[in-house]
Order: sequence, then structure tokens, then C-alpha cells
Amino acid sequence: MSGATQIVAIDGPAGAGKSTVARRVAERLGFAFLDTGAMYRAATWRALARGVDLHDPEALEASTRDMRLEMDETPSGQRVTVDGEDVTAAIRTPEVTRLIYRLDQIPGVRRILVDHQRRFGERGPTVAEGRDIGTVVFPAARCKIFLDASLDCRTRRRAAELAAKGMPADFEQLREEIRERDEKSRTRADSPLRRADDAVLVDSTDLTADQVVDALVALARERL
Ligand code: DC
Repeated sequence: MSGATQIVAIDGPAGAGKSTVARRVAERLGFAFLDTGAMYRAATWRALARGVDLHDPEALEASTRDMRLEMDETPSGQRVTVDGEDVTAAIRTPEVTRLIYRLDQIPGVRRILVDHQRRFGERGPTVAEGRDIGTVVFPAARCKIFLDASLDCRTRRRAAELAAKGMPADFEQLREEIRERDEKSRTRADSPLRRADDAVLVDSTDLTADQVVDALVALARERL
């Protein structure tokens, strides 16, 4: 079996539980875990930290190309470093989250990050999660899942995550931000968020994380 097909591709909107679930599915299968959203976050953080003009696509592309990005799984979770600096927490701030759309719609930026993602996948069996994994990054993946949940449910989950990190948020405002971010992901010209024709739709609204993990592991074992 070739490396490219030993991929579990998980796509879906913000707050559907992709990261939590994908990491645990990877652990259960003994696969590597690839959080592609962290890459778009890291590129956005770097552009902000260096004062790059967020309206200048070429400058954003150059900044992304020059970025030295490392993502390691540690016992306490994923550690992300950019140019040697630990940015694990910094890439999750509301400011970075709000501004990612400036980069994630630039084809040159996406090309650079998609190349990184494909190289990662070539190294061995991988569970990758994002917005365009089944459609663009690994279209040949044999196991594709589109993980969705209602907007209210996704807002509740994101609010709980933020609260756990000491960043409590106003529910209505967060709901609106998530709705807007989804809208931007779904309507951008390059690699919009959509379910691949051969992806299995899993609605996690009324499921626990354990139930989703079990369902995905079963699906992966059946397909790979
Ligand atoms: O999954 P996340 O919330 O960490 O992703 C952050 C943003 O990155 C998300 O709003 C859209 C973008 N993204 C993307 O465009 N393509 C991906 N494969 C992953 C994330």
C-alpha cells in the first residue's frame, strides 16, 4: 500500500471537534497526526509578529516561504515553533484566529503549506485534519471524513476550550465569529471548505468525543 493512501483525511468547520478527535484517532491507529490549521495559524502569527502588510499577498507569501516551522507531538500535546520560538499558545489567540482569512485565501500561501502537508503525509501513515484535506491535499486518501456539528454546539465547544485556557468569550460574539469564519472558508475561491464526494459525513452534534473517535477508528480500519 502506498504512503499516499495510508491517510485518514478529516475536514470540517471550526469547532466540530476535529483536533481533539483526530489526535485521538491517530493515537489509536498508531498514525502520525497533522493539524493543518496550526500551519495557517503559524503563518499568520509570523506575519503579525514581523509587521508584514496583511493586504500584500506577495509579502505574505514570502513570509510563509521563509518561515521555519516545526510541529512536534509532546506528552503535553502539540508544540509549534516558528523560527525557533515556541508559539504553541500564541497561535491560538483571538487576534490570530480573526486574521487567518487574510492568508488562507492566498493561493501562493496555500501552495507552500500544502507542499509541507504532502511531504508530512509521505513520511508514513497519517491522520490529517483541516478544511481541504480530502479535496486538495490528499485527494487519493481512501478514508475521508467530513466532521460537522450544529453552530450552537460548535460555539459551546469553542467557548469551553477558550475558558479552559483562561480566555472566556461572550457566547453570542463567539457564535458570530465562528459563523463568519465558516462563511469565509466555504466561499473562498481557492480550496473552499466542502465535503469531498467520497467523504463520509459524521454529525457530532449529539455524540461524545469517545463515540466519534470509535466511529472514525472503525471507519479507518474498514477502509485502509
Ligand atoms: O482548524 P483551525 O481553527 O485551527 O484553523 C484555523 C484556520 O485556518 C481556519 O479558519 C481556516 C484555515 N485553514 C485552512 O484554510 N485550511 C486548512 N487545511 C486548515 C485551516
